[in-house]
Amino acid sequence: MISKTESYKQLLVPEKMPQHVAIIMDGNGRWAKKKNRPRLFGHSQGVKSVRNVVEASVEIGVKHLTLYAFSLENWNRPQSEVSGLMSLMISTIQKEFKTLHKNNVRIKLVGNLALLPTSVKEKVFETERITQNNTAMTLNIALSYGSQWEIAEAAKKIAIDVSQNKISPDDITPESFSQYLLTSHSPDPELLIRTSGEFRISNFLLYQMAYTELYFTDTLWPDFGKEAFYEAIYHFQQRERRFGKISEQLPSNSNQ
Ligand code: FPP
Repeated sequence: MISKTESYKQLLVPEKMPQHVAIIMDGNGRWAKKKNRPRLFGHSQGVKSVRNVVEASVEIGVKHLTLYAFSLENWNRPQSEVSGLMSLMISTIQKEFKTLHKNNVRIKLVGNLALLPTSVKEKVFETERITQNNTAMTLNIALSYGSQWEIAEAAKKIAIDVSQNKISPDDITPESFSQYLLTSHSPDPELLIRTSGEFRISNFLLYQMAYTELYFTDTLWPDFGKEAFYEAIYHFQQRERRFGKISEQLPSNSNQ
């Protein structure tokens, strides 16, 4: 008998694999509360799901994975939770780094990193540097991230480039603008997954998700394993992506 995970995996069509999947990992706190455990226990269990989706992505050939680990708004959580999460980030990066590097995974941090404690900053910069030439997959960790902030920063950099005559206002196009975003090294995500039954984008990749397929599941993040990930991709592969065109204009076997 093959497992449900394996059967979902076998249903996936390689030609329709999304190049980039973004995930809002939500529900750690509620998961812990249901078990009468502290919120940080939920976050540490959430790391297991991170490991599972990274592994699953490498297995099925997803080339870019972006995980929303900590938003700019999350800085407003109780101090004990913020510092617990920061310690968890460092210990996770430290623990998983070797395996990721061995599997040829490039790690990129996207967010307002200036706000991070020095110890976290040092660790993440070192990790980015060592893995910068890896090619199997890019793992973007959105940390201290807010999309409106990212867009405002891009506008600021463009204004500086215009004022220094490096570009002219006519050079600003949707494509050139996206080169000023922190995710310029990755294509736009084709699929966004949000766990825990919330139907919000929460200031995540607003510019990049103009045509992203959205997938919401009630599963809480610590319960989100490989099976749930493959199931989400299976549903994505059933969607017709028209990009404003009509069905008849689409190549019949394309997922574009
Ligand atoms: C949302 O659940 C989850 C977070 C704010 C943190 C997620 C971070 C991890 C799982 C660690 C990942 C580490 C790396 C290095 C990628 P919540 O606290 O908002 O849950 P709730 O809505 O149920 O309260």
